[in-house]
Amino acid sequence: MSSYDTVVIGFPIWWGVAPRIIETFLESYDFSGKTIIPFCTSGGSGVGRSDTALHKNVSGNVKWTKGIQINRPDEAAIKRMLEKGL
Ligand SMILES: Cc1cc2nc3c(=O)[nH]c(=O)nc-3n(C[C@H](O)[C@H](O)[C@H](O)COP(=O)(O)O)c2cc1C
Repeated sequence: MSSYDTVVIGFPIWWGVAPRIIETFLESYDFSGKTIIPFCTSGGSGVGRSDTALHKNVSGNVKWTKGIQINRPDEAAIKRMLEKGL
């Protein structure tokens, strides 16, 4: 993880939030000084508070971008997401 300045975290919405394993992942590393770009997939729900709910799982100086919903993206949509997030 120390090799990365930016971490893109994608997760499916489960009952309105990210699955618990995403929280475990975030708790397992030191993200200090990094940018985290969260995005979700879903059956239709928007991001809601699923991205900001993850902030508590990370300590230190982390820059979070706003969560994005990106269902069934093509390559162009992924590029747009990364450009927007960065
Ligand atoms: C346990 C479970 C809970 C889910 N809860 C939601 C939900 O609250 N809102 C929603 O839009 N989709 C929900 N989904 C759908 C998933 O978000 C969706 O299947 C996932 O993002 C993958 O997208 P795909 O099925 O198009 O590959 C849920 C799926 C599962 C398995």
